[in-house]
Amino acid sequence: DRGDAPDFTAKEIDEQPAAARRLLDGLLGRLADGRLLTDLGLARPDRVRLVACGTSRHAAEVVARVLAVEGGVPSRVVTASEADLAVPEPGTLTMALSQSGETADVLAALDRWDDPVLALTNAPRSSLARRADAVLGLGCGPEIGVAATKTFTAQVIAGVAVALAIASASGRLAPARLAALEQVLDGLPARLAASAALAAAPAAALADELADRPGAVFVSRGAGVPYAQEGALKLEELAYRWVEALPAGELKHGPIALLGPGTPVVVVGAEPRERLAVGIAEVTARGARTVLVGSGEDADLPVCLPAEEPPWGPLEAAVALQLFAREVTVRLGHEVDRPRNLAKSVTVE
Ligand code: M6R
Repeated sequence: DRGDAPDFTAKEIDEQPAAARRLLDGLLGRLADGRLLTDLGLARPDRVRLVACGTSRHAAEVVARVLAVEGGVPSRVVTASEADLAVPEPGTLTMALSQSGETADVLAALDRWDDPVLALTNAPRSSLARRADAVLGLGCGPEIGVAATKTFTAQVIAGVAVALAIASASGRLAPARLAALEQVLDGLPARLAASAALAAAPAAALADELADRPGAVFVSRGAGVPYAQEGALKLEELAYRWVEALPAGELKHGPIALLGPGTPVVVVGAEPRERLAVGIAEVTARGARTVLVGSGEDADLPVCLPAEEPPWGPLEAAVALQLFAREVTVRLGHEVDRPRNLAKSVTVE
């Protein structure tokens, strides 16, 4: 039942703060010394392999960064359909991220290795959950819209919790730093709600302005890059627009040739802003339409970010980009919940 919401996607975007709260309530306080790992029956790994596709792969990129930055833990994100390139390494924990738990590429990839598998899934009775040695359920409730929304934010939260638990167990993450990060996580549901409220009207106005543009470029730096990729994917799959997503520093190595007067360039989060200044200047000089997504006064798509960027980056921006993609889709008259050519579970390799 979608209640008063115009479509399931709108409803599920809206449910993110509550879903995040439920998940965090079950995770916070269990990260120190890796207790979460022990509870899941897992040993502390030396390294982590993250396997996923699509939106789930973007969440995996965020988790990999947290493992590296907070724990010095080596990790590798494996695109499930390209798993033949990932060599077995001893001491590895495989984290499989899949909201449906039925993605054939992910299930096939797992046949390649013997390592323990931790599944992050919204479907605790799925094929993936049965195959895994341990399951961390996202507990989001059903996600009907084909575009992953609330399961993305939940995957990031669950994955970050596992990464912090591993980092703490490895002795590299000091208790005071962990406590500070847990506090930032605890404030996330409120910031997600504030971001949805702040971004709603600007997302609609931007969609009015930009819906008819044939394509767009999404950029960010560092921890913001997976969110730029995720925002781009939402626009592609819902609004059927060609979108290029890349680290801002890569623009000058080729894709800048795509920019002309009026090309939308969505610049996602990443504080401090100076890290993006050069990229923004390059874009503005070509007459492109820069759309800043962030917490600064000058943001076109304003969101509520913590004072200091956490290692998992501007997760709050994901909500604003979901809203924007949905608004563009509505203006173009496309079916929001059931985009063409796509299924909620991709059960073929
Ligand atoms: O169920 P999964 O998380 O394994 O699905 C992976 C992708 O097929 C999925 O994220 C897809 O990219 C979504 N439709 C994105 O919104």
